[in-house]
Amino acid sequence: MALWSGRFEQGVDAFTQRFGASLPVDKAMYRQDIAGSRAHANMLAAQGVIAAEDAAAISEGLSSIERSIDEGSFAFDVNDEDIHMAVEKVLTADVGDAGARLHTGRSRNDQVATDARLFAKELCGELIAHNVSLRRVLVEKAEEHFGTVMPGYTHMQHAQPVLFSHHMLAYFWMLTRDCVRLKAAYDAADASPLGSAALAGTTYPLDRGMTAAELGFAGVTENSLDAVSDRDFLLDLDYACAVSMMHLSRLCEEIILWSSSEFGFITLSDKYSTGSSIMPQKKNPDFAELIRGKTGRVVGDLVGLLVTMKALPLAYNKDLQEDKEGAIDAAHTLADCLVCMDGMIETMSVNAAAMREQAKKGFLAATDVADYLAKKGMPFRAAHEVVGNLVLMCEKRGCDLDGLSVKDFKAASDLFDEDIVSELDLESIVEARTTYGGTGHEAVRVQLKRAHEVLEQDARLHG
Ligand code: ARG
Repeated sequence: MALWSGRFEQGVDAFTQRFGASLPVDKAMYRQDIAGSRAHANMLAAQGVIAAEDAAAISEGLSSIERSIDEGSFAFDVNDEDIHMAVEKVLTADVGDAGARLHTGRSRNDQVATDARLFAKELCGELIAHNVSLRRVLVEKAEEHFGTVMPGYTHMQHAQPVLFSHHMLAYFWMLTRDCVRLKAAYDAADASPLGSAALAGTTYPLDRGMTAAELGFAGVTENSLDAVSDRDFLLDLDYACAVSMMHLSRLCEEIILWSSSEFGFITLSDKYSTGSSIMPQKKNPDFAELIRGKTGRVVGDLVGLLVTMKALPLAYNKDLQEDKEGAIDAAHTLADCLVCMDGMIETMSVNAAAMREQAKKGFLAATDVADYLAKKGMPFRAAHEVVGNLVLMCEKRGCDLDGLSVKDFKAASDLFDEDIVSELDLESIVEARTTYGGTGHEAVRVQLKRAHEVLEQDARLHG
């Protein structure tokens, strides 16, 4: 029998019953649903709306339901539309009238919004913990290989040499911003809508602050119409997940390139690679590809909810039931990908010699040679031209800049001296980039220190 059987003469069609159900998705929120119900019952009793014995019976009944769901022995009924109805039905069967009093001054509309906010907060906390763990691994890799020089790229062409540590830390900072976004999504969810009832509040003397405090919310929502139809907190979570997946996908793209024979910069551990069923020699970076692939789905979760929301009039509409599946998918997918990336980076080996070999090619010293002339007074534009000509000469001779003699340099400009030779040294080129945030050894040491500080702060967030 439906909760609204009073007004109906017929039960709903069996197919549409299943079509309209959200139980397969929202049963994941059973702990939040039970906590919300317990808080509501305690508050109703404190306000004299229901008897203290009823609240105690409800609380006990809810605890036993929670235990049976935990253990997997709770008999979910396919005819239950959602987790709210499933729990309330069994509660009423177990504790009688007390259970039937639970829904006083409450609607599934404020109930589902409460559950979803609590669930979103929990997901954000878990994601932040995974985010912090991966960032720690990135810092460890950066420290382990401090001093390793690799080519830095623009347009996928050799540009200037950089420290491998600097490259790893670039991802550290991307992921640091992801953590900020996850925290923002947590904060967006951190207000209690409970007490908004169906859409307009209720005539009962509810203490919304009391339920909010019991549930660990920072405060209460301000407008009942908005509270039951707002899903911005899930959009924020979806967005945080989509951006973080995009970052992981970029890292995956580099891992895939770097582990190719053309690069050979890294070797993935066997634990994070697969073979081929036909080609015995193959070792494929499948998991990096899979994370890159899953990014599309998580972006889809964000776009899906945006489109669901875009034309909804106030207040609750059943369309809103489509909110949770994508958000849970986005969060679980990101969590899995963060865990996988964590292990992949931790176990990969870095081929410093291959990186160095490549850094010697492609005229990576060209900017520094131009700077050498500019520092001796030649306008930078003119110096750029002189070095461009030297590069052209090298191309024709089939050598790099270190293949030119001091005489060749002097012929191009009399500002060149013997010391130009040391300007071509990869280490000195990197070392000289002392700008705050640059790739020079000293600047990267400062960056590592800063990274540790930020990491320590973030580890205290919700991890
Ligand atoms: N299963 C619903 C959802 O997920 C719960 C709220 C239903 N409210 C209603 N008036 N039909 O959105």
